Amino acid sequence: MEPGKKYPRIKVVPPGPRAREIIGIDEKLLLQSFTRWYPLVIERASGFLVEDVDGNVYIDMNSGLAVCNVGHRHPKVLAAIKRQLDRFLHYSITDFYYAEVLELARKLFEITPGSFEKKAFFCNSGAEAVEAAIKIARGHFEGKRPYILAFAGSFHGRTMGALSLTSSKPVQRKGFAPLLPCVEHVPYPYCYRCPFKQTFPDCDYWCIDVIREWVFEKYLPPSEVCAIVFEPIAGEGGYVVPPPDFFPRLERLAREYEILLIDDEVQAGMGRTGRWFAIEHWNVAPDVIAIAKGVASGLPLGVAVGRGEVMDLPRGSHASTFGGNPVSCAAACAVIDAMREEGLLENAAKVGERALKRLRELEQEVDLIGDVRGVGLMIGVELVKDRKTKEPAVRELERVLLEAFRRGVLFVGAGLSTVRIAPPLCITEEAMDAALDILGDVLRECSRGD
Ligand SMILES: Cc1ncc(COP(=O)(O)O)c(C=O)c1O
Repeated sequence: MEPGKKYPRIKVVPPGPRAREIIGIDEKLLLQSFTRWYPLVIERASGFLVEDVDGNVYIDMNSGLAVCNVGHRHPKVLAAIKRQLDRFLHYSITDFYYAEVLELARKLFEITPGSFEKKAFFCNSGAEAVEAAIKIARGHFEGKRPYILAFAGSFHGRTMGALSLTSSKPVQRKGFAPLLPCVEHVPYPYCYRCPFKQTFPDCDYWCIDVIREWVFEKYLPPSEVCAIVFEPIAGEGGYVVPPPDFFPRLERLAREYEILLIDDEVQAGMGRTGRWFAIEHWNVAPDVIAIAKGVASGLPLGVAVGRGEVMDLPRGSHASTFGGNPVSCAAACAVIDAMREEGLLENAAKVGERALKRLRELEQEVDLIGDVRGVGLMIGVELVKDRKTKEPAVRELERVLLEAFRRGVLFVGAGLSTVRIAPPLCITEEAMDAALDILGDVLRECSRGD
C-alpha cells in the first residue's frame, strides 16, 4: 500500500470474487437506503490509496466521502489514537470533565474564522452538529425567532431537524413529513443553472435581493428569523461555488436584521478548499460553524463552534452521550497538527489549481462536460447531454463513475450529474494526474458514445 509510481493496480476486474460474496451478504443484512455508486469492498487504505478485498489498488478521489482529509491512517493520527486507547475510551463530557476535548476546542478556535471569544459543542456527526446549531440559534432568542432560512439545493444531513433544511434531492425528504416547522428555503446561488434564469454578473446578485424583496418584505418578518443556514460551497447538491460577493452581501443582510449566520462546513471545511474553512474565501465570519467529516479524519466527531455570546443554551438543555469522544478528540488534535506541519492546505490549493486547469482544458475538448468549478480539492465536473439545453447527463454520470472504478479511480457523484473530486489533501500531483488521465479517457469515450 505504499504510494508507488504505478497506480492504479487492478488485478481482477472489480468486483472480484471476494467482493461479490460480501456484497451478496450485505444486501440481505443492511437497510437498502444507501446511495451506492459501484461495488467497492474495502480491505485497507493508506494515504490516498485504497485496496479492495481482491487486491485491487485504487486512487481515492473521495476520501471516504470528504472525511479522510489528512489521508487514510495517517501515522500521527494513529499514534494519537493509540496513546488515547491506553488511557480511557469514554467518560461522557455531558456529565464529567476531561482535558482532551478542551485541547481540541482551543485548536479549533485558532483555525475557525473570527477573532471573537468562542465556545464549542461536541457531538458525533455532521447532522448532529447542524441540529445543535439549530437549537443554539432558536435557544439564543428564547423561541422569539422560530424561523430559519435555508437554501434549496443544499444538504445538511438526514436527521429530522437537519433534514428539514436539506433540499438537494426529493428522495431525501419523500415520505418523511412532517418535518420541522418554520423552515423556509430560497434558491442556492447556482450560476451555471441560475434558478432565476439570470446571468452573472448582469444579475447584480438578485439571489440576495430576492430574500429582502420577496421573502422578508412579503411574508416572513425578519424579526422572527433566528438564523440563515448555508453551505459555503454546496457539496451533495453538486459542488456549486457561489459568486464572489454572495456571502458578503448575505452577511450584510443578516446583520441588518440581527439574524445569525450558520455556516455548514461539514463537507467544505477542514482544509479541503485550501483554507481551514471555505467561508474564508469570502472573508465572512459566521456566528456558528458546523464541523464534522474531516475534523477527525476517520473517527466520528461533530462540532458546533460559535461566538461565545450566542452559544448560551442553559444547563441541561443540550448534550450528547458520546459527543466529544476522547479518542476522536485525540485524533482531531493530531489531524490539525499534521495538516499544519505538512502544509496540507497549501498542497490542496496547489494540486487543486492544477487539476482545475487540466479539467478546463478537457472541457474544451469533451462536449459531455457542461461546467468545471471548484476551490482547492473540492472540484465538480458537471456533465450535460447538450451544452445548449444543459440537460443533466444522469445515466452518463453513472457510466463514467463505474468505468473509472473499473480502471482504478474512485469518484462519486454530486447533484444530478456532477463528478465529485475530493481526494485526501495529501494527494500528489502525479497521483492527481493519473486519476485525471483516466477520467479524461472515460469522459472522451462516453462523449463519443463508445
Ligand atoms: C454539508 C453537509 N452537512 C451535513 C452533512 C451530514 O453529515 P453526517 O453524514 O455526518 O451526518 C453532510 C454529509 O454529507 C454534508 O455534506
